[in-house]
Amino acid sequence: MMADTEAGATVIDDTQAPAKTPTVEITFVTNQGKTVRAPHNSNLLRVSLREQGGIPFKCGGGICGTCKCRIEQGLENTDDVKPKERKHLNDDDLRAGYRMACQTFIKGDVAVSWEPRTTPR
Ligand code: FES
Repeated sequence: MMADTEAGATVIDDTQAPAKTPTVEITFVTNQGKTVRAPHNSNLLRVSLREQGGIPFKCGGGICGTCKCRIEQGLENTDDVKPKERKHLNDDDLRAGYRMACQTFIKGDVAVSWEPRTTPR
């Protein structure tokens, strides 16, 4: 026989609840405005790689500077600028919305552009 269990106060702990992951919309302006959805707090370069967004890159680790891009819309939806980014971006760049895609996490909708890579001579 099952004993009655005194559970005490009913505490609903919903901090662990598997809430639906919110998603964000990322528009790759330089790639004909291709728009994709990604989980909240996604790394911008990773999304670009996964979805063939087209942001140029080499190291993926904040060193080479190749992934410099400009957040055309939604700069407020990006996370804090990392010290590694400051090696490639000055204050004017940052004010203008430039970020290093491999170091940037997206918390809301953004539109991103970049300098298309020139073909090596
Ligand atoms: S890919 Fe090298 S700094 Fe981002």
